[in-house]
Amino acid sequence: MIHRIAIAGYRSIRSLTVRLGELTVVTGPNGSGKTNLYRSLRLIASAANGNLNQSLAEEGGFESVLWAGPETIPNEMKRGEVPVQGTLRRKPIALKLAFSADPMSYCIDLGRPVPSNSMFDADPEIKRECIWTGPTPDARSLCVDRKGANLRCRSGKGKWQDIDLHLSRGTSLMTEYADPFAAPEIIVMKEQLRGWRFYDTFRCDSHAPARLPSPQTFTPVMANDGSNLAAALQTIREIGDSHIVEQAIEEAFPGSQLYVQSGESGMQVVLTQPGMLRGLTARELSDGTLRYLLLLAALFSPRPPELLVLNEPETSLHPDLIGPLANMICRAAERSQVIVVSHNQHLVAQLERDEICEPVRLNKETGETIVEGTDLLSQHGWKWPAR
Ligand SMILES: Nc1ncnc2c1ncn2[C@@H]1O[C@H](COP(=O)(O)OP(=O)(O)OP(=O)(O)O)[C@@H](O)[C@H]1O
Ligand SMILES: [Mg+2]
Repeated sequence: MIHRIAIAGYRSIRSLTVRLGELTVVTGPNGSGKTNLYRSLRLIASAANGNLNQSLAEEGGFESVLWAGPETIPNEMKRGEVPVQGTLRRKPIALKLAFSADPMSYCIDLGRPVPSNSMFDADPEIKRECIWTGPTPDARSLCVDRKGANLRCRSGKGKWQDIDLHLSRGTSLMTEYADPFAAPEIIVMKEQLRGWRFYDTFRCDSHAPARLPSPQTFTPVMANDGSNLAAALQTIREIGDSHIVEQAIEEAFPGSQLYVQSGESGMQVVLTQPGMLRGLTARELSDGTLRYLLLLAALFSPRPPELLVLNEPETSLHPDLIGPLANMICRAAERSQVIVVSHNQHLVAQLERDEICEPVRLNKETGETIVEGTDLLSQHGWKWPAR
């Protein structure tokens, strides 16, 4: 389980540590940094998948995602007594992402590369990347340690061993080095991160992939665009908890029944509703109904992930569906650690009633994202390994 995430220098997040529970609900006003938090988690996962640079490029590039405010914000600036202006820089420009978890924790520190004649100088350079056991990285807990292109790993006997490998500047050590004997921690961390699952707003327009028949293939994990929704639902029915699906349908659409039919073009979702002479396929369902089915397939995957992150799952759902959605999320949180980013007060209130829920309220102060109700030490108290 992930206990804390720490982010520094990413968009509106100058420096932030967030405590996570089995179910964490992140809320806050528009522009407070909820989606930035979601995206920063996705960036950590992209390091393990080998597409960190690509993800940053898709977001507008490294320079664009760096915190655009001053390095420090003195109190008189916060109070508006002096204008917001650049302060004397004491530390190098950096985008840092980390989390502490059981059994292992991870951090990555990205900075500007040494200028060269390359046309790819806009890509960042990984300055430091570490894996450790326990809550904080220190000389005793570190087991994998990268500085620039150099990597060293600690052997079972506790001795550091330099790895004879020159790491590429923008590629995570997880995609460059895999030795189950010299550094099993790297393989465990990579698998852990590759298991994280993210679902952002699903497309439900008339041409959305989720409205088309899906390939007739065993699908324990639904694709991010819902293009294999019918196969994912049928897989839950065959090897997962079909009772939980029926319950979620009954709660949202009383008297309705969900089934999957197969045809020449693939598998189709069909929802029968009271008053209808025939069931409606995904092509005919309303946006909100289709989105609810997509969330259902995502949340009740028969292969639950270690971490499931949902960004604004309530989008386009009718208020009547918010209660059933909250119930689905709470049930999913019994099998996976779940983070929900939402600004729907009804959804947040309902999730917060669950005793396992850890509420996180974000706000923006002098342009930076802060966690409401936490002191400065818990907000900025993460110890980053030096470069
Ligand atoms: N490079 C940057 N430096 C500082 N702030 C930034 C940077 N890029 C974006 N921002 C700020 O981040 C904020 C957007 O954050 P985000 O999209 O996470 O908000 P949100 O809480 O998800 O809002 P909503 O509820 O509208 O979805 C904006 O206020 C924007 O000014
Ligand atoms: Mg948002």
